[in-house]
Amino acid sequence: MISRSRFSCPFLLVCVLATILLGSVAALAQAVAPLNDPAIEARVSSLLQRMTLEEKLGQLNQFSAGRPTGPGTGRSEYGQMIAAGQIGSLLNLTGATETNELQRIAMTRSRLKIPLLFGLDVIHGYRTIFPVPLGLASTWNPDLVEKTAAAAAREASAEGVRWTFSPMVDIARDARWGRIVEGAGEDPFLGSLMAAAYVRGYQGTRLDNPSSIAACAKHYVGYGAAEGGRDYNTTEIPERLLRDVYLPPFRAAVNAGAATLMSAFNSVNEVPASANSFTLDHVLRREWGFRGFVVSDWTAVTELIEHGIANDGATAARKGIMAGVDMDMEGGLYLNELAAQVKSGKVPIQAVDEAVRRILRVKFALGLFERPYVEESAQSKVLDPAHVELARTAAEESFVLLKNDARSVQPALLPLGAGVRTIALIGPLADSAGDMVGAWGAKGDPKDAVTLRAAFEDFTAKRQMQLLYAKGTEIIGGSDAGIAPAVDVAGRADVVVLALGENAGEMTAEAASRAFINLPGLQQKLLEAVAATGKPVVLVVFSGRPLVLTSVVDKVGAIVQAWYPGIQAGPALVRVLSGEANFSGRLTVTMPRSVGQEPLYYNHLNTGRPAGRTELTRPPSGGNEKYVSRYIDEQNSGLFPFGHGLSYTRFEYSPITLSSQSLSARGLNSGSQALRVTVEVKNVGGRDGVEVVQLYIRQRGTSVARPVRELEGFQRIPLRAGESMRVEFTMSKKELAFWNIDMKEVVEPARVTVWVGHDSQSGSQAEFLITE
Ligand code: NOJ
Repeated sequence: MISRSRFSCPFLLVCVLATILLGSVAALAQAVAPLNDPAIEARVSSLLQRMTLEEKLGQLNQFSAGRPTGPGTGRSEYGQMIAAGQIGSLLNLTGATETNELQRIAMTRSRLKIPLLFGLDVIHGYRTIFPVPLGLASTWNPDLVEKTAAAAAREASAEGVRWTFSPMVDIARDARWGRIVEGAGEDPFLGSLMAAAYVRGYQGTRLDNPSSIAACAKHYVGYGAAEGGRDYNTTEIPERLLRDVYLPPFRAAVNAGAATLMSAFNSVNEVPASANSFTLDHVLRREWGFRGFVVSDWTAVTELIEHGIANDGATAARKGIMAGVDMDMEGGLYLNELAAQVKSGKVPIQAVDEAVRRILRVKFALGLFERPYVEESAQSKVLDPAHVELARTAAEESFVLLKNDARSVQPALLPLGAGVRTIALIGPLADSAGDMVGAWGAKGDPKDAVTLRAAFEDFTAKRQMQLLYAKGTEIIGGSDAGIAPAVDVAGRADVVVLALGENAGEMTAEAASRAFINLPGLQQKLLEAVAATGKPVVLVVFSGRPLVLTSVVDKVGAIVQAWYPGIQAGPALVRVLSGEANFSGRLTVTMPRSVGQEPLYYNHLNTGRPAGRTELTRPPSGGNEKYVSRYIDEQNSGLFPFGHGLSYTRFEYSPITLSSQSLSARGLNSGSQALRVTVEVKNVGGRDGVEVVQLYIRQRGTSVARPVRELEGFQRIPLRAGESMRVEFTMSKKELAFWNIDMKEVVEPARVTVWVGHDSQSGSQAEFLITE
């Protein structure tokens, strides 16, 4: 069940009971981090009183004890510093023996015996690697995402890691930005549900459960709005946009109990996010009541100098801590500069105390003082068969069937039919285990990953079918020498499965922005040569962003967007391609026609001269209008819209029923009114399937312009062939409020259009009024 929406339920009582039960589970989930516990507060205060300034500053420091993930090398020797109480946290160190060894120094040789907190980027799994977050978001299944996070927490915590730098909840509207792969895509509603799901999964019902790990919602805030999609770049985000689009997933994470946040690299409206007291203090602490701590991104405090708001380390450290950054990741400035700042009165000791208090609070809440070590003898939980099974399910649900056009091949190319006896598997990603793991693979090992080639070998062998394989070319660069052999292999097969895309390590995630987002290297050439054989071609795209597939789409019969599916990539793909499982993933990013359309997102404003007038309501003269908001050389719409995704069956929607035609803003704002939106969805195809029923709204007549469509609800419903289901959504203040002209989050009088349908461009439509 998705928080803002409900299945219709024939038995009212059951529904009410279920709602109460789930409501209390949600309340419990928010209490996970005992960050409000008075007993903890008392322990923090008593410890704080006994700490010297140096010991306090030590807690504010984090260093990398392993592979660096940013500039600088990290150090390798920390024993002395830990014993001297100069380190509060280490990142990138894993393993029960390894973490215990350093923890033992903190617990036996340091004066106050404050345990270290070990952090790691556990982004989409620890050793059992799930699909990359953009793939997980494509499942539109927060419950499943929560399970993957919980599995990752079990594995990581068993190896001493009690803190993950996840979820990344940055809204990303620009596919050039390499880090789009790390988040949930372009939509704040979906992004908020995913943010909360990750937090619940990592932190469980209690943070002090030994297999819970602290979540870290990042990168606070606006990082995804990097100008030009270039990583680390400046952002300009007016306050209303910040509150409507970029802040909500962080707020959802905080409401779900996230113990920590990470401050971002970028500047927001000329103030770097890691020295931004408006976002870090005013919004996060005062408005939202956040009680955890904020860690800077890697050297982000030092980078205040490059940003130009500090001329030296001392000023950078002062600006960071005074704005509300509690822990300095890898920069060392808090350790080296703040003592003098405090002694000279430039930084009040209260600011240091507050930061230490927040960090200790989380350490106590995690139960680290009681259980600083992990069991070395305990059998490691990595690659638990249940986790591997979950990895396969998650991968299956993450795939988006973009095209399966029965017009180009009769019947539709997928699922691969009984007539297929020989499959040609071609492409540089068909057998690349490392790419299946994807960026930020934590302890993922390519050896664990089953590629498409390995899975097809198994599949074809069991069915007396033949598998032919050719790599064709490299992902990046390479020569075209392999293209002719690939064409030869294609010529001998009944169907070609072409596995193309990006190199996960070099082209996706941090510092991997691209100005051209088409198939790299010679892959387009390979595709054209293979397609020219006339054999039916299924294109499987592995990528960390929506690629421009415009010059590809008409050359192949089917396209599967596979993202980077994790260690069960091959088996999951073979199951959906063969029809053993159905496709159910939907895009959470708009796929562009041209890179020049970026930033491209469905929930844009209408403008005063919308291109829609020419595309949708063409004037009687029939001609194109010139003076509208459009390109003269490209359409405005994406190649595939937000929410899109096909399956092996089809769904039909009844007209919408509204529980009322008119509500009042007063009633909605006070919580005394709500609207029920109901449709009947029917599986009219020949196969069982899952539909993601999506609800969008548009509000007109409001004090500020609202988007042409906004997602405000969705439900993932399994329907057997021929089955139908009544689906009900509730629209209340939560769904209808926005930040108005007076910067108040309220419902205003409006004419509201509602769509319930399959994606952001279609659906049954209805209207209702919100009066005063
Ligand atoms: C830099 C990245 O921006 C951040 O996402 C990550 O958590 C840290 N490095 C630590 O690895």
